[in-house]
Amino acid sequence: MKTGKIWQGRFSRPTATEMEKFSHSLSVDRRLWREDLAVNRAWTEALVGVGLLTPDEFATIQQGLNQIEKEMANNEFPFHPNDEDIHSAIERRLSELIGDKGAKIHTGRSRNDQVITDLFLYLRKQLQHTLTELRQLQEVLVNIADSQHKLIMPGYTHLQQAQPVLFSHYVMSLFWILERDRQRLQRAQQDCGTLPLGSGALAGSGFAVDRHLLAQKLGFTKISENSIDAVSHRDVPIEIAFHLTQLLLHMSRYAADLILWSTQEFNFVSLDQAYCTGSSMMPQKCNPDSLELLRGKAASAVGHLQALLTLCHGLPHTYNRDLQEDKPHIFAILDLSHESLLIFRNVWATLKINDKAIKEKLGSNILATELADYLTTRGMPFRESHQTVGRIVRWAEENNLQLENIPLEKYQEFSALFSDDVKQWLKIEHSVARRNLPGGTGPKAVHQQILQAKKILQQTQASTINPA
Ligand code: ARG
Repeated sequence: MKTGKIWQGRFSRPTATEMEKFSHSLSVDRRLWREDLAVNRAWTEALVGVGLLTPDEFATIQQGLNQIEKEMANNEFPFHPNDEDIHSAIERRLSELIGDKGAKIHTGRSRNDQVITDLFLYLRKQLQHTLTELRQLQEVLVNIADSQHKLIMPGYTHLQQAQPVLFSHYVMSLFWILERDRQRLQRAQQDCGTLPLGSGALAGSGFAVDRHLLAQKLGFTKISENSIDAVSHRDVPIEIAFHLTQLLLHMSRYAADLILWSTQEFNFVSLDQAYCTGSSMMPQKCNPDSLELLRGKAASAVGHLQALLTLCHGLPHTYNRDLQEDKPHIFAILDLSHESLLIFRNVWATLKINDKAIKEKLGSNILATELADYLTTRGMPFRESHQTVGRIVRWAEENNLQLENIPLEKYQEFSALFSDDVKQWLKIEHSVARRNLPGGTGPKAVHQQILQAKKILQQTQASTINPA
């Protein structure tokens, strides 16, 4: 059995044991085995095209690769301690299985163009998974918004009650940011469609393989224009890592809202117990750990993204081994986003919305802006209306009254512009209904939003189910 290193020839002394351990990436990149096999298959075919492999050799290599595929799929692949990474492991095993013909597979290529090609293939597939998960989450949100279209809640700025909004409007705000995340990820997925293979170590392959055909075989839409660029840059993986990290950050903010709203103090929502855990000491506890962990995992993603960016800072051209350290961070971000999306979707899908508690929190002081608007519609300049209502709010606070309980005569002491119809303006529903402009929280506007969202979901269904 050949167990030597693929680059052994030039070396007269063995690698230090600790160096072996230090340089191995197999534990991380073994998840690229499917992509590496696909690249091997396409590459051998390209070598036949330039006469470097005979059709017979090609057939033997394919058989060897098929055998490896079986071993990998059944978890029976015999890894060897000398396997540096997934690429060398597969190449080593191929030679074991089919002898010298296996040694021809690396003709005209380098692990530098191989690894980034594998990674692009892997990212494309992973993103398809993310896009599907995102869409499923969006679907859950639209269903909630649809079923809660009448519920009004206090909207907050600075965590202080600000203005009333429809609960469905809040839920849809998450839909739209996820829609932007989805579109960004879809564009990034397309950016993984440029084939690096054929770039060799840095200078381009020494053999004029048909790169267009290679691209076609591997499902790439174009080929890279410059071999130096193709093997040295990680902008596309970093872009994906950034978009996924943003997605996690977005989820973390909504997680924070739900955590706050599930407190005894708010009680706006209740998390299903399936997504909470208890305390080892305090028997009454039912903690929203799912959302707390989601927030914590978003922080980890930021760290991984930071590491990726730093990895490329000032890195000389072209390939440097530093670049092997990209994968632990990219994979970690992918894993964090997949597990978080699943949990987040299920938390929303099982969330109980406590309408009564939400309504109880809605006092009429949240309508101060309405009063200012009222005076403005009666001709008072807004700045003055604001001051006047500010004085009314101060007076109401001193007298322990909500705005709706102040008698009309009192209002008229502050401004003669107040008349009986002000009562109408002090209804929560009135405030919401005044905001039916596009994008506003009015019921008609939110209905439009939901219709628009449903249209998007319908359109994306096709592209999600039939990956590009
Ligand atoms: N395992 C490496 C990586 O993940 C590829 C190996 C390239 N090695 C080399 N000496 N050029 O980037």
